[in-house]
Amino acid sequence: MTPTTGTWRILDDAVEVARVAARHVEAAARAAIERAGRFNLVLAGGSSPRRTYELLSERGRIDWDRVHVFWSDERCVPPDDPASNYRMAIVTLFARTAPPAGNVHRIQAERGALQAATQYDDELVRFFGAGQPGPMVQPAFDLVLLGVGADGHTASLFPGGPGLTSPSWVAPARAPVGAEPAERVTLTLAAIAAAAEVLFIVTGATKRDVVARILSPEGSELPAARVTARGVGWLLDRQAGADLHEQQQS
Ligand code: 6PG
Repeated sequence: MTPTTGTWRILDDAVEVARVAARHVEAAARAAIERAGRFNLVLAGGSSPRRTYELLSERGRIDWDRVHVFWSDERCVPPDDPASNYRMAIVTLFARTAPPAGNVHRIQAERGALQAATQYDDELVRFFGAGQPGPMVQPAFDLVLLGVGADGHTASLFPGGPGLTSPSWVAPARAPVGAEPAERVTLTLAAIAAAAEVLFIVTGATKRDVVARILSPEGSELPAARVTARGVGWLLDRQAGADLHEQQQS
């Protein structure tokens, strides 16, 4: 099957996916910093990107002073809560070196979904609006990292959620039963669509079926299948990509 969105690579295992993902982030950072003097990076939540973040920290090849860090979504818990996507990045990616405080654009989700969505949207408009002429400010993320849930959600864009259709950049969200914490804040499809590049990091046998659904015509309504950007790539291990034909030899 060929994916409805983007290109993909199937790699041997999750360790190899993390290695390739880390090198991809480093290359994107170098290119953006060379071109524009800064790299606007959106971090995925969940557990799939964890090893990639640890590798990036161990390799120490990113000039964090030139990087602005955002999150694709956040759970409405305190920033030191084990369920916090922000905390996961702090203990993995920023274990050794962190960007300057002003470069870390945390979603203050502990304030509740509505207030936090407004705060994050305001922060994005301020950040991306500064220096851009005219009203058509766009959230010019250079690279958005994303995972995929077994129901086809990505970020906290769940089937039927407001972030799928909202013209805003940020929306409150509510995860279905079984995906606690329920209350969340998420970038919208519109915000992600303005990005230069999206990279999905998906591993493990539990994602095999949803990856196959996302890549089939009937799966086109799934949130992850609706993600667009100037470039959309998938890094899959053999378990998650078991129903795909090789598009590129790993
Ligand atoms: C979150 C993520 C979410 C995640 C998927 C996959 O806050 O949970 O943003 O979209 O990427 O649920 O989660 P795993 O990587 O843990 O399987």
